[in-house]
Amino acid sequence: MCGIVGYVGQRKAVDVLIPGLQRLEYRGYDSAGIALQVEKGIEIKKSEGRLENVERLLNGSAESLQKSHTGMGHTRWATHGKPTTQNAHPHKTGHVVLVHNGIIENYLDLKRDILTRGHKPVSETDSELFGYLVLDEMDKGANLAEAVRKSFVGLHGQCSMVVMSEKEPGVIIGVRNGSPLVAAVDPQGGAIIASDAQAAISYTKDIFFLDHGEMVIATNKGLVFEDLKTGKTVKREPVKLDWSVDKMNKGGFPHYMLKEIHEQPVVLVDTLNALLDRNKHTPFPLSDQPAVRLLENARQLIFVACGTSWHAASIGKYWIESLAKIPVSVELASEFRYRDAVLPSGTVVIGVSQSGETADTLAVLRDLKTKKIPTIGICNVRGSSISREADAVFYTSAGPEIGVAATKTFSSQLLVIYLIAGYMAHKSRATSDTTLAKCFEDLVKVPHILSDMLEPDSSMVRQVTGAVDSVKDAKGFFFIGRGTSFPMALEGALKLKEISYDYAEGYAAGELKHGPIAMIDLGMVVVVLAPKDLWRDKTVSNLEEVKARGATILGIGDTEDHDLKTLCDLWVGLPKEGRALEKGLLPFLLSPIVQLLSYHRAVYRGTDVDKPRNLAKSVTVE
Ligand code: G6P
Repeated sequence: MCGIVGYVGQRKAVDVLIPGLQRLEYRGYDSAGIALQVEKGIEIKKSEGRLENVERLLNGSAESLQKSHTGMGHTRWATHGKPTTQNAHPHKTGHVVLVHNGIIENYLDLKRDILTRGHKPVSETDSELFGYLVLDEMDKGANLAEAVRKSFVGLHGQCSMVVMSEKEPGVIIGVRNGSPLVAAVDPQGGAIIASDAQAAISYTKDIFFLDHGEMVIATNKGLVFEDLKTGKTVKREPVKLDWSVDKMNKGGFPHYMLKEIHEQPVVLVDTLNALLDRNKHTPFPLSDQPAVRLLENARQLIFVACGTSWHAASIGKYWIESLAKIPVSVELASEFRYRDAVLPSGTVVIGVSQSGETADTLAVLRDLKTKKIPTIGICNVRGSSISREADAVFYTSAGPEIGVAATKTFSSQLLVIYLIAGYMAHKSRATSDTTLAKCFEDLVKVPHILSDMLEPDSSMVRQVTGAVDSVKDAKGFFFIGRGTSFPMALEGALKLKEISYDYAEGYAAGELKHGPIAMIDLGMVVVVLAPKDLWRDKTVSNLEEVKARGATILGIGDTEDHDLKTLCDLWVGLPKEGRALEKGLLPFLLSPIVQLLSYHRAVYRGTDVDKPRNLAKSVTVE
């Protein structure tokens, strides 16, 4: 979704705004712009397309702009109006300048009102309309902060806004009315406001996460927080983020996504270390924490999530049902939100979201809280909305994930859910401690196996790149699997769609003959996920049906599964060390394979791997 950065202070504003916006590029955008305060007013440079276009405009502009100490910038992900320069933010209405993230739902009413007042909006956006409201309030005598506050009355929808006025140089107002907004004090004097902590983290690790309905006033002197409705000052404490700036660079990899795929062994270890108490002598020694206490009384779990997080939860369902023997359902948040779901007592709802901001997942958790259903978040971002609004949280320690396609956050979500499964199985005595102890021992081995698998010249890496080279002309891909490999097949297909824009479908192998097999012919590649687990034989028999129809088969399975290998045209073997693992853990090994397949395919197709078209990392609108 849209990225926002505002700065006022001792530094040159462009030196904060441009790198800040670059850090937010990963969110996905289609136009960009910045506004800088100079002596004679506020000047705007904006353009459709990439941020580089704005940088070029700035390079050719007056020195006064380069020297400005106050300004704001925006990367836009179009909702109302096409991604044109005119619709790009910031918007200037008289002396008021603003950037906006989110949606003003009653914008048509607002527009009618604005037109009646004689204003003439120049863009097709809902955002610009807000500027006229502020302008009119200031013309009636309000100062900028009062005018912004009054303009929010009667505004419907979730958004965040950052506003400046030529009449109050050196003041930047930020409002969180649903969509995330953070603020930070610049240790060199001044302050930063942003839609995401990543824009501020190079200057300070102490980040203030605004609450819904809060406003922040940034000046050279720092930050003042106010309640949006009453204008009363609010005392806020910063959250210390433990993200290192190194994790936000490519570290020698050509793309963030590739770097993040390679970080998986380390983030799994970090996630384990953060959640375990190694002094405990239980098979799954989760440290005592509120989320664990909520699980203790659970008789049924409902996971709600979107996208890749939904796939992680869908794999987790198999684990929890098989180890802990308690009922689990996995729901798409956007569907569950508007359904009359039956929630028996003992239900605990777990929202899985790497960003912690996904609008639908957040809305479900909020709604359930009002119904007194216990909620847990599995999040990667401390201070995010879900992490603050759920009753308790399990954090994944994946660090910042910049590539839009989720990779390391996915595997760390899997890890948390596996820990939940093992912990609940021990509590319910549904699985023997001996079996659970083996599951845990093997879980700890997974990062080491992954680390070998991901060595630059490993046989897995060579087989994946070789397979991608051999299917250059593919017209489409099917990913199939059974059991835990079914949601993994969905994830493989999603990754490919997201970053290489190939036609790709994920299917339960047993469903293939109920329709999709009609699509299978010579140009299709069928990626079959068939590790040696409970479901392998059934999957292999489905494969015969595909083979008979001429598709190219890319098999992923046990490295010594010669029968399967013979059936396949192309082959990626799981590492030998994986053979002794508890079968339930095999998804951890399949995951980097499907990720690398999509990565290399996308590189071959020449797409923008880290910032795929039309996608956003954090989806803060419905
Ligand atoms: C977007 C991202 C996906 C992500 C999904 C859910 O679509 O591009 O990578 O899986 O949102 O996001 P969440 O932050 O809730 O995990």
